[in-house]
Amino acid sequence: MTNYIRLGVNIDHVATLRNARGGTHPDPFTIAQACVAAGADGITIHLREDRRHIRDADAIKICAEIPAPINLEMAATEEMTTIACRLRPHGVCIVPERRLEITTEGGLDVVKFHAQLKPLIARLNDSGIVVSLFIDPDLDQLEAALEAGAAVVELHTGAYANHKAGELARLANAAAFSNKLGLECHAGHGLTYENVTPVAALPEIRELNIGHYLMGEALLVGLPQTIRHMQALMAAARSGGA
Ligand code: PXP
Repeated sequence: MTNYIRLGVNIDHVATLRNARGGTHPDPFTIAQACVAAGADGITIHLREDRRHIRDADAIKICAEIPAPINLEMAATEEMTTIACRLRPHGVCIVPERRLEITTEGGLDVVKFHAQLKPLIARLNDSGIVVSLFIDPDLDQLEAALEAGAAVVELHTGAYANHKAGELARLANAAAFSNKLGLECHAGHGLTYENVTPVAALPEIRELNIGHYLMGEALLVGLPQTIRHMQALMAAARSGGA
């Protein structure tokens, strides 16, 4: 099924809602189970340095017990690399958390931080974790990602979602170039029912990671229906039927 495009569901906002009251409800683990039961191809969680949403206990339980690939987003720090090597999620996506690490569009500046990233990526690779870098759809960043040892890039779709002119062409170009370099290509940020189709139609993109919009829609119609509808749009885009 090489044409299939996976949906990773980002559940950070469930933890944000839980933390707003300081209790245990809603539980990100239970929601992750529900996402998988509804057909999500993977679960994405971001363990931030400040633990503002997902916390260590969430990450431990989700990585150990959810029967689907877990994509752990994290900053490029020693602490996070050590945690990831212990939890051994299917994949890690390195994202910028500090302003200094961020390019103008919002991706990780791999060109600038290449030397710091390389040893961390090597440790993750040695633990059998598939390493992805969240970058702008920029050819220099793609080359730097390859050179740094990543197997996957996740293209930042934020500028596209904000209707910036020329962004779809930039994404298409970057997706094709990632394929040429032998990097698996993912994409995400700001994707919705309204804007997902052109991105999902890019044949080199293997996975989309979507969170905020899905959680908002789930409040209206429920999680299973929301996930299935997004997957149906993605599948239709893939078959040229959207
Ligand atoms: N991909 C990455 C790397 C992210 O950090 C996020 C969330 O910030 C997403 C995808 C999902 O973005 P959204 O919540 O806007 O769908």
